[in-house]
Amino acid sequence: MTPRITLLDGSLGGAEGNTAAAAARLTAHLEPRASVRAVRLRDTSDAGSLASILGDSDGFVFATGTYWDSWGSPMQRFLETATELEGSLVWLGKPAAVVVTMHSVGGKGVLSRLQGVLCTLGLLLPPMSGFVYSLANHLALEGPARDGQEDLWRLDDLAVVAHNLLEALAGGRDFRAWPVDRAEAGRRWI
Ligand SMILES: Cc1cc2nc3c(=O)[nH]c(=O)nc-3n(C[C@H](O)[C@H](O)[C@H](O)COP(=O)(O)O)c2cc1C
Repeated sequence: MTPRITLLDGSLGGAEGNTAAAAARLTAHLEPRASVRAVRLRDTSDAGSLASILGDSDGFVFATGTYWDSWGSPMQRFLETATELEGSLVWLGKPAAVVVTMHSVGGKGVLSRLQGVLCTLGLLLPPMSGFVYSLANHLALEGPARDGQEDLWRLDDLAVVAHNLLEALAGGRDFRAWPVDRAEAGRRWI
């Protein structure tokens, strides 16, 4: 059966924003093997009113921009109202990927804290399923390839995020990794 994935977009930008654009890239990688339904929490952030959609989902994508070092207020409101679903079958053991956008600073902290919350709610975090994309990366990746770029998250890495989410949904272990700079992580770059 085709798995059902719900994309919970907690950004301020909504359907027209940067987070939605990044999430759409992820959705394109997911959709051949899953049906993806997007919920814009900016419009509907009350988890209670979304309970049947959430309960009906096999997996999730949580997406948000970075706003003063935090996730969006629609995501915060959603998490607050989702408290009564903590540890319930709505979440328990269901895999979740996370997409965060930002200009330059704070998004990895948002990702790590959000993944911590999701794990505590009862969700399952597949390997390499949390992705942060910044304007800084976007600009740095423009033009010809340069040394050191392989350590930057790029939109193509969303194929790996999609694969690992789908693999977890299927109960498999054939996870993939995005490119990493193992050889020169400690290099002098200034
Ligand atoms: C109120 C506000 C606060 C922001 N704070 C940060 C920040 O702390 N760090 C950062 O790198 N970008 C920050 N940004 C930029 C956004 O994170 C970035 O543009 C993101 O992609 C917005 O997603 P959206 O278009 O889906 O809302 C901020 C943007 C706004 C509107």
